[in-house]
Amino acid sequence: MKYRKFGDTGWEASVLGFGCMRLPTKENYSDIDEPRAEELFNFAVEQGINYFDTAYPYHGGNSEVWLGKYFHRRPELTHIKIATKLPVWKVEKPDDFHRYLEEQLKKLKRDKIDFYLLHALNEELWNKVKKMDILKNLEESKKQGIIGNMGFSFHDQYPVFKQIIDEYPQWDFCQIQYNYMNEDFQAGTKGYQFAVDMGIPIIVMEPLLGGRLVNPPPSINRIWKQALTSRTPPAWALQWLWSKPGISIVLSGMSSLEQLKENILTANKSKVNLLNDDDLDVIDQVREQYLFLKPIPCNDCKYCLPCPEDVDIPRIFEVYNSGKMYEKIEIAKKFYQWIKPENNASRCLHCGQCEQKCPQNINISDLLSEIHDTLSVKN
Ligand SMILES: NC(=O)c1ccc[n+]([C@@H]2O[C@H](COP(=O)([O-])OP(=O)(O)OC[C@H]3O[C@@H](n4cnc5c(N)ncnc54)[C@H](OP(=O)(O)O)[C@@H]3O)[C@@H](O)[C@H]2O)c1
Repeated sequence: MKYRKFGDTGWEASVLGFGCMRLPTKENYSDIDEPRAEELFNFAVEQGINYFDTAYPYHGGNSEVWLGKYFHRRPELTHIKIATKLPVWKVEKPDDFHRYLEEQLKKLKRDKIDFYLLHALNEELWNKVKKMDILKNLEESKKQGIIGNMGFSFHDQYPVFKQIIDEYPQWDFCQIQYNYMNEDFQAGTKGYQFAVDMGIPIIVMEPLLGGRLVNPPPSINRIWKQALTSRTPPAWALQWLWSKPGISIVLSGMSSLEQLKENILTANKSKVNLLNDDDLDVIDQVREQYLFLKPIPCNDCKYCLPCPEDVDIPRIFEVYNSGKMYEKIEIAKKFYQWIKPENNASRCLHCGQCEQKCPQNINISDLLSEIHDTLSVKN
């Protein structure tokens, strides 16, 4: 395993971290397949992975419980760092901070959480963090030694990311969604650069876009095959990240031993500035080809909003485009289900107000009907 300095903490992080949102399961997402998860953890630890990332809601709450069980059985693994996250959206009053932290410590069977994140911050949740005194509670828990490092994970636009760091530059680390297709999405490359400039260690999530960058369509595969260096699509995506300075850990959610072994092999070959101009040129071509496969030319300008029926038009187009571009329509159906029924495409009354405002002249109403038919899961 390769290791990188984690800021100025003196600790060296394995470049590959284990994302525990996608552990092998039985029939239900909340039912972790423990023998298979154990095999994965044993191998990960043996190969030198020293960072495991979980969160309160993963696997219906059972991911934390599983980590607690596994590491309790292996007390010799004192060098392993565990990260978990406060479900900020569930916090209703300042005291809830302690309630969740205590519950998480119990589930993890620990008296300290090495890395504690405020989960999935966006503008609304950041305002809540400030209103509910969460930063003060975090700082106190860190002083008491219950929390090792304080960080946040992020899902909003770059200006909000910058605001969160500008208003509280003391973060020990941040966690962003980042991969070669998300340079302009969420924190993106601007966010990556800002965190580097501010000296805040970066942990990356969704490096393979949650699996959408593996098994690409034929037109993308042809480009990968013409590259001078031979790599699998996941290896290209991971090396793109590890080649960048300032990235401490790349988390991947590996659900099989095969995936874990492949990503460890890739990690072992990683280094800063590994990719040369030819490699970066191939990635540019792949990115362009994916964008060419994007069926709806929506660029998320949001001019179509507000919709009088509250249809979340840009989000619906993003989910659909992503399903088509990456040929992962089943994943798109799952994301579509997460959009609240009161904001989904079925609410469109074809009033046409959005179409008058769309600079791309997208035939929005007809597309919304089509998308609802394609993505809604029929019982
Ligand atoms: N804090 C937050 O808000 C937040 C949000 C998202 C993620 N995270 C954390 O970040 C971690 C990483 O994100 P992610 O799980 O989305 O990572 P990812 O690496 O982008 O996607 C993981 C998926 O990619 C596929 N995969 C991984 N390695 C592969 C390989 N070598 N070959 C083929 N397929 C491979 C697997 O898909 P299949 O299982 O379908 O085979 C796996 O489930 C999560 O597990 C979680 O711990 C945090």
